[in-house]
Amino acid sequence: MAQHQSTTVWKDVTLLTMTEGYGLIRDGAIAVEGSRIVWLGEMRNLPAAYDNAEIVSCAGRFLSPGLIDCHTHLVYGGSRVAEFEKRLSGMSYQDIAREGGGILATVRATRDTDENMLYFSAQKRLAQLQKGGVTTIEIKSGYGLDLENELKMLRVARKLGKSSSVDVITTFLGAHAVAPEFKGDSDGYMDYVCTDMLTAVMRENLADAVDAFCEDIAFSTDQVEILFTKARELGLPVKLHAEQLNDSGGAKLAAEYQALSADHLEHLTEEGVKYMAASGTVAVLLPGAFYSLRDENLPPVELLRKYDVPMAVASDSNPGSSPVLSLPLMINMASTLFGLTPIEALIGVTRNAARALGLHDRGVLEVGNLADFALWDISHPAELSYQLGGNLCVGAVKDGKIIF
Ligand code: NIG
Ligand code: FE
Repeated sequence: MAQHQSTTVWKDVTLLTMTEGYGLIRDGAIAVEGSRIVWLGEMRNLPAAYDNAEIVSCAGRFLSPGLIDCHTHLVYGGSRVAEFEKRLSGMSYQDIAREGGGILATVRATRDTDENMLYFSAQKRLAQLQKGGVTTIEIKSGYGLDLENELKMLRVARKLGKSSSVDVITTFLGAHAVAPEFKGDSDGYMDYVCTDMLTAVMRENLADAVDAFCEDIAFSTDQVEILFTKARELGLPVKLHAEQLNDSGGAKLAAEYQALSADHLEHLTEEGVKYMAASGTVAVLLPGAFYSLRDENLPPVELLRKYDVPMAVASDSNPGSSPVLSLPLMINMASTLFGLTPIEALIGVTRNAARALGLHDRGVLEVGNLADFALWDISHPAELSYQLGGNLCVGAVKDGKIIF
């Protein structure tokens, strides 16, 4: 019989496989060889082939897939705390943006920060997210808005992926705002994004997807369509910041280009939902931005359910609208603010988050998938939605290796 010396079996554990609902397996065990899951099920059914495996007891805790934060702006310079204070005294996010603050304030600070400093500040934030069970994260550019600084951000994101135990998926968001050099000429800027910038990003293989901010303070659907057409030619998947502050028809456009996801969606209409359903585009809900901007328009969760649009949940970690460093807190907020059931919220940071990134090897505990786990000190999975703050995550495994 084959010896499985290099195999580890995690036992004394309740598995949240997330294959269907929680996909709960009590008194479970999960066997890992190298970076992959090779067996899982009830402990009493563990095949004898694993008799010689190394055993790790999980002391009766719950094991879920490693969490996936599928929408972040983790790499940036400076801080926007002063803007936070302005918003508290009545100024709106849009007014601040129109004044040259907002995203453009972070653009100035990011351009002024060198690659090493950007790396170290993002690494600290990543370490915080990792403590909450995150094993895969998406990071967008979008605070450079010129060739040199967009590339700088994406290189930092790639370097974080190589040097940390979290997988990093990068997204080119050159179309986040109109660069100051192109003030009053958003068409000209979009052309620059689609030519010089995208060419350089492709040459260095710096992006796994392309995103844009479709909003009246940013880019129109016509402009985004030019970008999406170019991305399609280059074979890059697209995603879109859509319907956050207004209904601009972004979700429909995203769906027409088979976008992996449309994100935010507080102003999404039933028509937009239907288009997303038809294309299988994931709805990424960002309760941290909703909460921080004290938004009052809820994303249409009932309609997303009705038309079976997969819902993901992410931190949107960024210095302006969502200074969030905990994905478990977003699980809570997805339930308390948006009304997601605890099952939907957990699917949102696992299975559907993987889908929003086009990843097929994680997000559910299944044979063949990566051995990326988060270990939780809970006695019922709904505690992950119920608890507000603190940290219930007591362990993480990435590619079969114990991280903490
Ligand atoms: O996802 N909506 C656009 N982009 C970010 C906010 C960026 C910022 O304010 O710096 C978001 O919320
Ligand atoms: Fe965002």
